[in-house]
Amino acid sequence: MDISRTAEIMGAEVRGLCPSMFYTSEVAAELNQALLDHQKLCLKDQELTPDEYAVLGQVFGAPKPQLVKKLHLEGIPEISVISNCNDLKNGKPYVSANYWHTDGSYFAVPAKATMLYGKALPADGGDTQFINTYAVLDAMPADLRARIDGVRAVHVYVSRRGKSLVQNRSNDEEDKTPPVVHPLIRTHPETGRQSLYINPNRIDHIEGMSLEDGDSLLDELYEFAFQEKFQHRHQWTLGDIIVWDNRCTMHRASNDFDVTQRREFHRILLEGTVPV
Ligand SMILES: [Fe+2]
Repeated sequence: MDISRTAEIMGAEVRGLCPSMFYTSEVAAELNQALLDHQKLCLKDQELTPDEYAVLGQVFGAPKPQLVKKLHLEGIPEISVISNCNDLKNGKPYVSANYWHTDGSYFAVPAKATMLYGKALPADGGDTQFINTYAVLDAMPADLRARIDGVRAVHVYVSRRGKSLVQNRSNDEEDKTPPVVHPLIRTHPETGRQSLYINPNRIDHIEGMSLEDGDSLLDELYEFAFQEKFQHRHQWTLGDIIVWDNRCTMHRASNDFDVTQRREFHRILLEGTVPV
């Protein structure tokens, strides 16, 4: 197995990984350390059955069953199908998740990492883009950082500030995710490093601040965090499985492609811990 950094800001490529190695503890340790070091891995040239993919999920942690039932793969609740053709809005396929976010922050215990296995890709475009949120916090002006120290944000499934379309859910599914509060600066439980923990798609407001003051703080934070210099772009090739750490990154889907072409992934979310 060969692991090599592919971009300065974040990300590494893993070559030579095959299913027989998924059961080896040395391989698991090496992959998990690489994820901590590079924040996003691309496992190249994978040809896995859904069962093998589910086993690969266990190499990185504990796969979470997908909450929205209609998105499950039959018989494998931890694999969900993410596709621009899953749902139609106004009779047309659409790309969800095209605004910056980190997965599952509307849960009290958000997913630590996400895996996407490319199953169908558009001819052009449809990249997955990332932001390194360690780098954002490291570069933040001291006065802005001081203003968010100890401050918490309220995350909800449908935010008044969200800019992506989200899946419709049943009342039962809604009831499982009441609003939750997370700190704007979190400490990574494994690396000990601090990062900016924001989810522009799901943060509704800042705890204890007027909406006006909170919105202006969030606008300022987002403008700083979204700078090109913190970004990385994954251009998909069939056979790619990407894994990223939600505790120190944000991501979004590029909707710069012909949405009548299918863009489809099998996704696994891995259990995390409460952000602190
Ligand atoms: Fe996402």
